[in-house]
Amino acid sequence: MRVSGLFRLVALIFALVTTWVFIRSYNGFNMKTIRLPRWMGSVPRETRVEKTKCGLSKPCPENFFSFKLSSGAANVVGPSMCFENHLIMSPVKNNVGRGLNIALVNGSTGTVQRESSFDMYSGEPTALVKFLKEIQEGVLVLVASYDDPGTKMNDEIRNLFSNLGSSYAKQLGFRDSWVFLGAKDLKSKSPFEQFLKNDPNTNKYEGWPELLELEGCVPRKVF
Ligand SMILES: *[C@@H]1O[C@H](CO)[C@@H](O)[C@H](O)[C@H]1NC(C)=O
Repeated sequence: MRVSGLFRLVALIFALVTTWVFIRSYNGFNMKTIRLPRWMGSVPRETRVEKTKCGLSKPCPENFFSFKLSSGAANVVGPSMCFENHLIMSPVKNNVGRGLNIALVNGSTGTVQRESSFDMYSGEPTALVKFLKEIQEGVLVLVASYDDPGTKMNDEIRNLFSNLGSSYAKQLGFRDSWVFLGAKDLKSKSPFEQFLKNDPNTNKYEGWPELLELEGCVPRKVF
């Protein structure tokens, strides 16, 4: 009995040693192939989808700011403005108003300086004139319309917007949709502008054209 017990022990040790040697020497059976599956707790690598700033369809290059503007929908949903992933104005932030919504951003740092809305139906246009005249060099101007940007529009305001690079401020009228990004020191017309005329034949909503969305990459100004 004792001899057979000893024999079993030796056989067991032999089996263990040969198994160990087999595993060590067998290349395909290394640690990599027997590591835990992902769902058992190991951290997944590179499965995180890169989200763009402001939800842009593609990311902006180095030294460009990401922005997205949308005008209001009829007189129901307010406009919104996103700049470098920062929601400057939106109905959720409750800082938009009917008329023209305007934000000023430092063109080299990308920091928001001011945001304001101007009632263009029953408000005083002098407030907007003052606001636009005070804009300094190197400041980006973001504009989104809501409901009616046109009733109190006058030639002085049209000229001030044209000087910021707008092509459509000249014809902006009652209940038109307008989104625009410009700057004081633009040498030419801004490429960042969308405009839809209030036209009963083409209006999406009863009494208002469709809302407009504008996204893009604006170069950081290096002084
Ligand atoms: C933008 O920010 C920089 C750095 O704070 C400042 O020096 C510059 O005067 C600002 N530009 C404007 C137009 O406010």
